[in-house]
Amino acid sequence: MNLILFGPPGVGKGTQAMRLAATHDLLHISTGDMLRSAIAEGTPLGMTAKGFVESGGLVPDDIIIGLVREVLESTESKGFLLDGFPRTLEQARALDDLFRELAIHEVRIVMLTAPEQELIDRMVKRGLEQGRKDDTAETIRHRLEVYNAQTEPVKTFYEKSRGVKLVDGLGTVDDVTARIEKVL
Ligand code: AP5
Ligand code: MG
Repeated sequence: MNLILFGPPGVGKGTQAMRLAATHDLLHISTGDMLRSAIAEGTPLGMTAKGFVESGGLVPDDIIIGLVREVLESTESKGFLLDGFPRTLEQARALDDLFRELAIHEVRIVMLTAPEQELIDRMVKRGLEQGRKDDTAETIRHRLEVYNAQTEPVKTFYEKSRGVKLVDGLGTVDDVTARIEKVL
């Protein structure tokens, strides 16, 4: 099984991705986690990405597409789960090209949804508890604007091509996992 877990910032993609990856033996590919590690390690990628990530903007498409390409080309895992990618139409088109090249046909898209205030509350809480740099009120607002302007159109792109399973992201983490398993 190959999965794209899609949805706005704070909706629970990372939380659910960890569980799904463990249950279904999938390689969890989180571009956000990859970028945060690169920033923490001070690699060239991290140095380029830092300003974009910490201000809540998007890292340029060519960098991110190159990163995902490297992982997908070299993985020996039977299935993968993409979390936080694709986030622009350009990324979605590049991913389709890559799937074609690698003869990957079966990809399911699950979109988690939650009201905007819930997203804000979750990220503000995490900001206070864990100090993630982009979890401040102002940066959260910007991340949501970027999502609405640049990432939301990817939903329509997939609705027209592969189909999207919508899953309510409200409730306990267990509730949401159960809903995702049901649509899978
Ligand atoms: P990324 O790391 O992908 O962040 P995001 O999508 O903005 O959102 P989060 O990771 O914060 O939310 P999530 O949906 O994973 O939810 P989570 O499980 O953490 O990206 C960060 C940045 O990297 C971007 O802004 C950009 O700069 C860059 N970047 C990454 N990918 C890129 C790309 N493809 N192109 C360009 N740039 C890119 O949950 C959120 C919180 O809620 C947690 O505290 C969690 O414990 C809690 N929670 C989870 N589930 C529940 C629940 N059911 N009830 C209550 N609380 C819950
Ligand atoms: Mg995440």
